[in-house]
Amino acid sequence: MTTLVRLSRLASVAIVTIDRPERMNALSWATVQQLGEIGRELASDATVRVCLLTGAGEKAFCAGADLKERQGMSRAQVREMLSAYQSELTWLEKSDFVSVAAINGVALGGGLELALTCDLRIAVPTASFGLPETGLGIIPGAGGTQRMARLLGESRTLDLVLTGRRIDANEALALGLVNRLAPSAELLLESALKWLEPVAEGAPIAQRAALSAVRAARHLPLEQGLLFERAAYERCLESADRDEALLALAEKRKPRFQGK
Ligand code: COA
Repeated sequence: MTTLVRLSRLASVAIVTIDRPERMNALSWATVQQLGEIGRELASDATVRVCLLTGAGEKAFCAGADLKERQGMSRAQVREMLSAYQSELTWLEKSDFVSVAAINGVALGGGLELALTCDLRIAVPTASFGLPETGLGIIPGAGGTQRMARLLGESRTLDLVLTGRRIDANEALALGLVNRLAPSAELLLESALKWLEPVAEGAPIAQRAALSAVRAARHLPLEQGLLFERAAYERCLESADRDEALLALAEKRKPRFQGK
């Protein structure tokens, strides 16, 4: 079996790389399946705190659906693919760790939708973004209409979805589509790791509680969201790490978190 997605580890950070640069890291059926397998592998590893998702090569993070493969697919196979986007990719927004798209080039169609499934996004200054689907007679089918509308609001999402226009990294940053830009392509992973140091090395229980509480805001009404937050706080209040943090503050030293 050809390896289309690679997994490497750097302490508590997992780095997942879509490795099909000759196809602009497009999402073929096999690529989506391999992303799903890696998600299942990472989900069973409690030592993972951050997962960086990136693309191989200098041009593309991911150019979306594999359009060459798509040409030979029946409508039934396309429907299966749409289901696979749900079953194989949503671990990025459900796992205990923070998922971060490290966008090293174009993020188009399903590629941008993949980035939107992650919790956070960092991009190189030369990256570009777009949802060109309506120009191809379809609509975003990997959650793009829903996740982008939640992230950017209806008006900005309609602009990008209906026109299909491509935007550059500065516009993506101004819109809030990406959290930040790396100073250069060479420094993308280094910048991401530096940015996420407090996450990778912070108090594990508090990090997980914060992640789950903020994620819950996507779908819970405020009243229920506040109850969810309260329950998440409770897990921190009961933790030894919380006591250690207060002690460390009093003793003017760095806390030593144990995840307990
Ligand atoms: N699926 C399959 N192959 C793709 C692809 C995709 N989504 N995007 C690019 N490729 C392939 C090209 O066909 C080409 O292969 P070839 O040399 O065998 O023909 C190779 O990747 C390089 O692409 P090319 O277009 O020559 O590079 P570029 O730098 O000029 O442009 C893109 C890169 C990504 C901007 C351009 O290829 C593009 O617009 N792709 C389509 C993206 C898209 O519409 N995705 C949404 C799908 S819903």
